[in-house]
Amino acid sequence: MKTAQGTVLVSHDEIRIRIADLGRQISADYAGRSITFIGILKGSFVFLADLMRSVSPEIPIEIDFMSVSSYGDATSSSGTVHIEKDVGITIDGRDIIIVEDIVDTGLTLFHVHNILSGRGARSLRVAALLEKPGNSRYERPVDYLGFKIPNKFVVGYGLDYAQHYRNLPDIRVLDEI
Ligand code: IMP
Ligand code: MG
Repeated sequence: MKTAQGTVLVSHDEIRIRIADLGRQISADYAGRSITFIGILKGSFVFLADLMRSVSPEIPIEIDFMSVSSYGDATSSSGTVHIEKDVGITIDGRDIIIVEDIVDTGLTLFHVHNILSGRGARSLRVAALLEKPGNSRYERPVDYLGFKIPNKFVVGYGLDYAQHYRNLPDIRVLDEI
């Protein structure tokens, strides 16, 4: 489907079905425990909202958010991130799932994972809605991945282009940017 807002790459129905799968998987993996979801702002908030509601209500859930900005390029090991907003909770002893909208160079995830793993989490896993191919700096597999997509710039379902299009229900490739 081609529209003024681009071409649909992953429809809202496909997203909904996949997130239900991820919710079942997470519910099985965390049975008898609790989960603290930490969303990386801003892009992850729509995914996090749906993901947490796909987890069994038997499992106690907390959420918090972090905002980071990255500097440096993906191929250099000196790239780093600046924490613009840190979480308000203590990480120590918690079962954490980092929630990211999209893993591109993997630099953001690499640094957020390092920061949080230094704070004594009991366990630390990653959920990402989308992953692009390439030389990801985050070398582990994403534990709960929605979709692998081609190396195109996408918007919608929380993802933006210049802060726009986050409200679109589908993931779209913009025709002209
Ligand atoms: P990374 O550090 O290169 O993995 O980039 C991760 C961040 O860049 C994501 O959290 C997004 O905010 C942003 N990003 C990367 N690719 C896209 C895209 O195709 N559309 C919108 N945002 C993107
Ligand atoms: Mg982001």
